[in-house]
Amino acid sequence: MTPVGPPRGPAPTIRPFRRSDAAAAALVFHEAVHRGAAEHYTARQLAAWAPAPPAEDAWADRLSAMTTLVALDPASEALVGFMSLEIGRRGVGHIDLAFVQPDRMGEGVAYRLYAAIELAARAAGCMRLTTDASLAARPFFARQGFVVQRRQTPVRNGVALTSFRMAKKLTGDDAGAGDDAGAGAVSVK
Ligand SMILES: CC(C)(COP(=O)(O)OP(=O)(O)OC[C@H]1O[C@@H](n2cnc3c(N)ncnc32)[C@H](O)[C@@H]1OP(=O)(O)O)[C@@H](O)C(=O)NCCC(=O)NCCS
Repeated sequence: MTPVGPPRGPAPTIRPFRRSDAAAAALVFHEAVHRGAAEHYTARQLAAWAPAPPAEDAWADRLSAMTTLVALDPASEALVGFMSLEIGRRGVGHIDLAFVQPDRMGEGVAYRLYAAIELAARAAGCMRLTTDASLAARPFFARQGFVVQRRQTPVRNGVALTSFRMAKKLTGDDAGAGDDAGAGAVSVK
């Protein structure tokens, strides 16, 4: 399936993550969880998901270890979103993180990040992509051609958080079909 979605907002600049982006990305993550996903989860679940903005060094390590792209406002150069791809075994890529600053949601920032991530995945030889989508992100990934494989309730800081294992085939005609072979443990980011 061809990725769809209206890139109608001002085009952000997309570039690879740098360690100096870590603090801004940590704030975007924290705000995206607490404001962007607030209508889908209880306050207790949001607090368990993101108790505080992640520590800068640890976050820089985590994001640097993956193919992470950031989206910058073209005028202010403020970081408005990021997406991370983990390239696993057997041609499977896993989108581990996808977060957009709440004031910039619905403008096509994630759409543009995803288009670049999918290109990177194809260039790396990935034949299939997986993600563990939050309730907030499920419609977005469905629009990009991902299919729900199963509903799951991983426990984070002692609290269960509903998410959906979703997958998309990058080759062939039947997007998302096939056995589950996702990379890494199931988690809500
Ligand atoms: C999920 C998330 C990453 C999507 O980011 P986003 O930049 O808002 O996504 P986009 O703008 O590209 O697309 C979102 C929707 O807005 C629509 N849209 C895009 N540009 C638009 C515009 N200019 N006007 C109106 N709608 C627009 C898209 O069609 C899409 O609709 P859909 O949900 O029906 O598919 C973001 O909402 C987020 O961070 N959510 C909270 C945290 C979270 O749950 N993260 C995911 C963890 S798995």
